[in-house]
Amino acid sequence: MKTAKQNRVIIFDTTLRDGEQCPGASLNQREKIEIAQQLARLNVDVIEAGFPIASPDDFCSVKAIAATIKGPRIAGLARCLNKDIERCAEAVTPAGKRARIHVFLATSKIHRDFKLRKDKAEILKQATTAVRYARTFCEDVEFSPEDATRTERDYLAEVVRAVIDAGAATVNIPDTVGYTVPMEFGALIGYLFEHVPNIGKAVINVHCHNDLGLAVANTLAALAAGARGVECTINGIGERAGNCAIEELVMALHTRHDILGLTTDIHTQELYRSSRLVSRLTGMVVQRNKAIVGANAFAHEAGIHQDGILKERSTYEIMRPQDIGIDGSELVLGKHSGRHAFADRLTKMGFTLKPEELDHAYRRFIDLADKKKNVYDDDILAIARDEMEGDFAGFGAYQLDYLHVSTGTSTIPTATVRLRKGKDVIQDAACGDGPVDASLKTIDRITGVQGKLLEYAIQAVTIGKDAQGEVSMRVAFGDDVVSGKAASTDIVQASATAYLNCVNRVLMSRALGKKK
Ligand code: KIV
Ligand code: ZN
Repeated sequence: MKTAKQNRVIIFDTTLRDGEQCPGASLNQREKIEIAQQLARLNVDVIEAGFPIASPDDFCSVKAIAATIKGPRIAGLARCLNKDIERCAEAVTPAGKRARIHVFLATSKIHRDFKLRKDKAEILKQATTAVRYARTFCEDVEFSPEDATRTERDYLAEVVRAVIDAGAATVNIPDTVGYTVPMEFGALIGYLFEHVPNIGKAVINVHCHNDLGLAVANTLAALAAGARGVECTINGIGERAGNCAIEELVMALHTRHDILGLTTDIHTQELYRSSRLVSRLTGMVVQRNKAIVGANAFAHEAGIHQDGILKERSTYEIMRPQDIGIDGSELVLGKHSGRHAFADRLTKMGFTLKPEELDHAYRRFIDLADKKKNVYDDDILAIARDEMEGDFAGFGAYQLDYLHVSTGTSTIPTATVRLRKGKDVIQDAACGDGPVDASLKTIDRITGVQGKLLEYAIQAVTIGKDAQGEVSMRVAFGDDVVSGKAASTDIVQASATAYLNCVNRVLMSRALGKKK
């Protein structure tokens, strides 16, 4: 088991658990495995793969990740309840010695009084009992006192001591509501190191939320005070304002090693690719000015800066784009590129498509290359993502066979849609407030399920007027809320396909008796 050496920081990635919890970021199992593979290439120490009791989907994804991913430890989350711990243990077991059970229970007064209605002694007992029970399944058990930063310090120290005695090898100190500030958080970690006699027997992790925009700063303060494990997510995605962003934290440690004196085992050249993959698969757009991975992070606009950079890069650049994997030589493919070059590019980008998906993706690529002069990595990423998005293996999914819209300044927008489902071909037409509305209404008429569009976003995949538009949406079908994405140079087609992915997802989960 990897333990914290004095100056080595353990990177615990929770993109697939806390990150996936953020609204609109839901991922299917294939997408989760794809991200887990990339996290393994990034060389994180621990992947928190999900919350197995939360849904059958979560359980299956954690189990599949535990069975397939080599390298990092695989953790699953559980409340301090036997049924949660048992389900979690079953899901992480395929990881063998690399399995971890992460149990959590709130300790702050506000959570004790209002959420749990339990006193301090009851919480302490439940926490230690759960850690002991988890240890019967797995050697590697982590405990998190939820809302630690709003917990009485002396009581928090008592809980930390007790769970270490009960067998927790890692104790995580979460700033669950992103309330703390660096000076205070550093002091809290320092206090625990002073007042918990057995603290040397465990690794102290920290888990900071970004409600005040301080997640990375708080994490750095905790590291300076002795914490050696960091819980973070790619692009900082997560509940509400998100979690500590892995790329920001790692590059801060890397760039300011002179001051911070700490290292990680992260392959920093994989950071950019990880960011793009997570952004594409979750549909969560990375803001242009986001540190490290935003489109402007290495762009110099001001003339004085450009002049300085040309004379000597370090005048205005504290990191090299190459350090995070931007090599500036993105391979461009065109319609004369063969199947082999296309497949090779996909593999280099980390995608593993099934042979029939590869055939379909290649046909789409040729089609796209016919419409567009240059096909960039981001175009290929969008095509590969679409293949996985539309993977409703074994389920008779609807497929878009034909779409015709008529629209204009003085026409009532009308759509004709033909869908294929197995051998059945069904066609219908409807009018709407615009071409997208007309298309989605027609799909509703054909499938018989009425969706309510909650969120709709469109983004150009690359630069240029001929760029593919990537549509992400969240749709409610009664109580079921699902997300779908699709890309095309025709944005009405992308909208219809994304919507159809939502319809298929909800019908499949209803057919399997699952709730998404
Ligand atoms: O923010 C939090 O407290 C959590 C715990 C489950 C670790 O995510
Ligand atoms: Zn959290």
